[in-house]
Amino acid sequence: MFAVRRLNVETAKRAFSSSAANATKVAVLGAAGGIGQPLALTLKQNELISHLSLYDIVNGPGVAADLDHIDIDGKVTGYTPDNDGLKHAITDATIIVIPAGVPRKPGMTRDDLFNTNAGIVRDLANAAAQYAPKAHMAIISNPVNSTVPIVSEIFKKHKVYDPKRIFGVTTLDVVRASRFASQMKGTSTKKEKITVVGGHSGVTIIPLLSQTSSNFTDDELKALTHRIQFGGDEVVKAKAGSGSATLSMSYAAARFVNSLLRALKGESGIIEPAYVRSPLFESKGLEYFASNVELCHDGVGKIHDLGPLNQYEKQLLEAALPELKKNIAKGVDFVHK
Ligand code: NAD
Ligand code: LMR
Repeated sequence: MFAVRRLNVETAKRAFSSSAANATKVAVLGAAGGIGQPLALTLKQNELISHLSLYDIVNGPGVAADLDHIDIDGKVTGYTPDNDGLKHAITDATIIVIPAGVPRKPGMTRDDLFNTNAGIVRDLANAAAQYAPKAHMAIISNPVNSTVPIVSEIFKKHKVYDPKRIFGVTTLDVVRASRFASQMKGTSTKKEKITVVGGHSGVTIIPLLSQTSSNFTDDELKALTHRIQFGGDEVVKAKAGSGSATLSMSYAAARFVNSLLRALKGESGIIEPAYVRSPLFESKGLEYFASNVELCHDGVGKIHDLGPLNQYEKQLLEAALPELKKNIAKGVDFVHK
């Protein structure tokens, strides 16, 4: 991973001036958590970031002090809510990554997290809209299907909404899809590049396995689709009450942030999946949808359509749309209630 990332970083640095590369602040909100800490460690090693700003209601400064002993150039600062910590953490940030909030325990759905996490994300988005209205927002906190609409509605309220700058991070779904397909077929993950669309929970996660180069039997298709849709549950179950995916998620989020940074610095042709304001299913009343998105100098560029779907994938899509619509409405209503 690091070899690839370093290469990507080098490409971006060659293409753009090092002075531009030297002025990039990335803030992580929820930085002392299970995702936040390994994500901060990986971002500390990203040479495209000049200032890593870490905020958490507990231990933000502790995590920052620890990372600041690493012999890699760049500033690291840490904050708690004291002394306007959130404001200082996000002011001038190019990207704000939000993994703040509670994770699932066995038996819970992501939507069960709504009551706690919606308020956390709303408050962080309120601060971002005030102090960092130009930042690109990368939302990890679940339920992503609803938290992205929450952030968007808050930005609309503050009249600083730009849909090109608000992303739900769904990278883990394609990371898992690649891994699970390679395990099933005994191939390299490098061969298994799978498009995953829809949203980020259960049936709203739609892998488009007909578009890959590998062939699957009907039974394999069903088993693999189910594993990709419910991969998060495997980790929740294995962690047995102590949380959900953190390490694979921090890997996925670091990949997304690195791709976005490269694109913001002007590199072209960078495509990542993301849950964004999308025209794809607007006619069916869905404002947001995850699909492959070309990232560009100001955020969301071309939103790729789904391509050809087989009958099975059409059924998956039919099952996903009503659930996604409900999740979106819940987020929107929460802000306006
Ligand atoms: P965690 O409990 O380990 O960490 C969350 C951190 O958020 C804690 O350090 C906590 O102090 C902090 N926090 C709580 N309220 C805060 C606030 N108001 N401001 C700043 N920080 C605050 O949880 P985790 O395992 O890191 O997961 C975090 C979230 O990410 C969960 O909602 C989880 O469901 C979600 N998640 C999403 C994906 C995805 O693919 N998008 C993957 C894994 C986890
Ligand atoms: C995941 O996909 O691992 C995350 O959304 C966390 C979870 O609750 O499963």
